[in-house]
Amino acid sequence: MSVIIPTYNESENIPVLLKRLSSLNMGSTGSLEVLFIDDNSPDLTWEAAIRHCVNTDLNVIVVRRFGRRGLSSAIIDGFMFAKGEYLTVMDADLQHPPEYIPRLLSAALKGHELVIASRYVAGGGTEGWSLLRTLISRGATLLARIMLLEARSVRDPMSGFFLVKRTLLSRCSKLNPLGFKILLEILVKCSPASVAEVPYIFRQRLKGRSKLGLKTIFEYVVHVLKLSGWRPFKFATVGALGYVVNVLATTISTILTPHFYLRNLVGIETSTLFNFTLHELWTFKDRRGGSVLKRLVAFHGAVVPAITTQYIIAQALYYLAGAPEAVSILLGVIVGFIVNYLISELGVWSSRRDEGV
Ligand code: GDD
Ligand code: MN
Repeated sequence: MSVIIPTYNESENIPVLLKRLSSLNMGSTGSLEVLFIDDNSPDLTWEAAIRHCVNTDLNVIVVRRFGRRGLSSAIIDGFMFAKGEYLTVMDADLQHPPEYIPRLLSAALKGHELVIASRYVAGGGTEGWSLLRTLISRGATLLARIMLLEARSVRDPMSGFFLVKRTLLSRCSKLNPLGFKILLEILVKCSPASVAEVPYIFRQRLKGRSKLGLKTIFEYVVHVLKLSGWRPFKFATVGALGYVVNVLATTISTILTPHFYLRNLVGIETSTLFNFTLHELWTFKDRRGGSVLKRLVAFHGAVVPAITTQYIIAQALYYLAGAPEAVSILLGVIVGFIVNYLISELGVWSSRRDEGV
C-alpha cells in the first residue's frame, strides 16, 4: 500500500501526520510506503518530511518539485513514483484521518477497484464547516452529478481521500493534471468496474490554510464542463438551430394551410424532431442506451414542462415585476432551456449506449 500526499506549506502538520500513519496496523500488508509530493513549499515541508520520517518505520519518499505545479499534477506524479498495488490519496492537514486507511484497504480487498472515503453516505460528515463552505461543496457535487453520468453513481465524487488499485490506473485515458479534482477524472476516464464508498468524517484542518480559493471554484466548473464534452453548450446550439428550423417550417407550411394556429404546430413538431435527431447524433451520442422510441416520447414529454415554465416566468416578470416584454421573453426562454436540458440530461438520455436500458 502506498499513501500519496500532495503538500504545499504543510510543514507544521507533518510530525503528527507521520506519527499517526506509523501507528496504523496494516495487518499482512506490512509497512506503508508514504510519498510526499511537494511543490518546493516556502515553509520547507519537504525538509520537514525528511527530518521527521527517521523516527518512524514507514518507507518515506519525498518528491520535491520546482515551480507550483498543482494538486492534481502532484497526485499524478505520486501515481508514477508509488510502488504499491493499492494507492491511497489524502491531504496532509489531517482533515482525512489516517485511521480510515485500513478500512479503505479492506473494501478494496473485497474486489473494489476504487474506494472513496465519503462524507455523504450514512455515517459520514463534515466537522465545523461554515454554511458557505457547505453550500459550495454541495453545489459542486450536484453540478458534477448532473453533468457526468459517472459521478451520478457515487455520493461524494469530490472527495480528496480515496484508494485506487494500480491496475485500474493502467486502463485510464490521459488524466488531466490541472485542477483540484483528480477523483472526478478517474471516475470519468478510467471507468472503474466497481466503486465502494466508506463513510468518514472530514475533520478540521490541524494547522495552516486551505489552498482552495475562488479561482479553484471557477476552474472546477470549466473542468466539469470539459469532462462532459461541453454538453450544455452543444444542447444550447441545437436549441438555437431548432428555433431557425421552427420559423422555417412554420413559413414553408403555408403551402399546406394558411392558418397560423396549424402552421405553428407544424413548426413546433418539426423543430422538436430536428432537435431530437441532433441530440441523438451529437449532444448525447454516447448516451443512447435502451429504446430510441422511449427517448423520442420522453423528449416530447420534456418539451411540455419547458414551454410551461418559459410561459410562467415570462408572464410573472412582465406582470409582477414590470419587466419589458423582450426581457421577460428572454429570461423565460433561458429558464425553459434549463428545464429542457435537465430533463434531457437526467431523464431522456440517462444511460450509456452500451448499457442497454
Ligand atoms: N504539491 C501540491 N501542490 N500540493 C498542494 C497544492 C499544490 O499546488 N495545493 C494544495 N496542495 C495540497 C495541500 O497541502 C493539502 O495537503 C492537499 O493538497 C489539499 O489541499 P487543501 O488546501 O487542504 O484543500 P481543501 O482541504 O480545501 O480541499 C480538500 O477537500 C476537498 C473536499 O471538500 C481537498 O482534498 C480536495 O481535493 C477535496 O475535494
Ligand atoms: Mn485540506
